[in-house]
Amino acid sequence: MLEVFQRKSEIFSYCSRRKSLGKTIGFVPTMGALHTGHLQLVNTALEQNDLAVVSIFVNPTQFNSAGDLLSYPRQFDQDLKMLESLGSDKIVIFNPDVQGMYPDGMNNTGTYDLNGIDSVMEGAHRPGHFQGVATIVHKLFSSVEPHKAYFGEKDFQQLAIIRHITKTLNLPIDIISVPTIREDDGLAKSSRNALLSEEHRAEAHRIYATMTKVKNKFDVQKIDDLIEEAIHDIQGSDNLFKVEYIEIVDENTLRPSANPQSPLRLFAAVWANKVRLIDNISLI
Ligand code: PAJ
Repeated sequence: MLEVFQRKSEIFSYCSRRKSLGKTIGFVPTMGALHTGHLQLVNTALEQNDLAVVSIFVNPTQFNSAGDLLSYPRQFDQDLKMLESLGSDKIVIFNPDVQGMYPDGMNNTGTYDLNGIDSVMEGAHRPGHFQGVATIVHKLFSSVEPHKAYFGEKDFQQLAIIRHITKTLNLPIDIISVPTIREDDGLAKSSRNALLSEEHRAEAHRIYATMTKVKNKFDVQKIDDLIEEAIHDIQGSDNLFKVEYIEIVDENTLRPSANPQSPLRLFAAVWANKVRLIDNISLI
């Protein structure tokens, strides 16, 4: 059985004790509903540290609608089993409740300087989302004080936000990124995939297939034409999906760039009925 801590004070003193014995801690923050994408982060943390702390907390302040928060899948017992299936006794779980993470209520989010990274793409379409992410990740970091923390490239803009706050707040934590894990048909693994209808799930391969097509045609076709074609390919003549945005930007600035040397990355957000899917792919 893996050890589960619910209180911040408990996980804090547990981690302090282990650190005082010279042990290194890798931290994997999650919102649960774990899949093999999350497990990849945990395995990487285990490879690089003496101990992996996995937090499971559905953070209310990063959701844009009450409905999305309510429908977010919660399956703690199954999550525990998945983590146990890794067969390691070096994993501990932090599973706080909302009161524990937000003892003063949730009105005090939104005070981080995110240097404009929060005003493009996901930030533009989900107002306040990244302030909520920054708030909870900062709180979790101060509960665990890990040596390293692990984040997926699946949420590439989130990764940029975390790198930014870690730097500006001088937090002594190495931020490690882990490549996106996909289903066999290319769909990026996501807790939200479980909410897709059968029809949307069967057709969701369109997203990655289209992103790959853009990557392959990138050198020979104009960006605007490629994006228009990509939107059409994903939405289909059946309009099964609705593309919210497809953007090609410099992966360091997250802004468009005319410089041919820029490391470009394609980002997409797609609605499948009420389920919002995001993905991204390097174009270099
Ligand atoms: P969640 O969506 O549960 O994701 C937890 C971590 O798993 C994130 O770093 C995310 O990028 C990574 N991840 C998700 N799907 C992945 C995939 N297919 N391949 C690789 N990594 C993947 O992201 C959050 O939770 C929250 O915003 C959080 C950081 C926990 C703050 O509440």
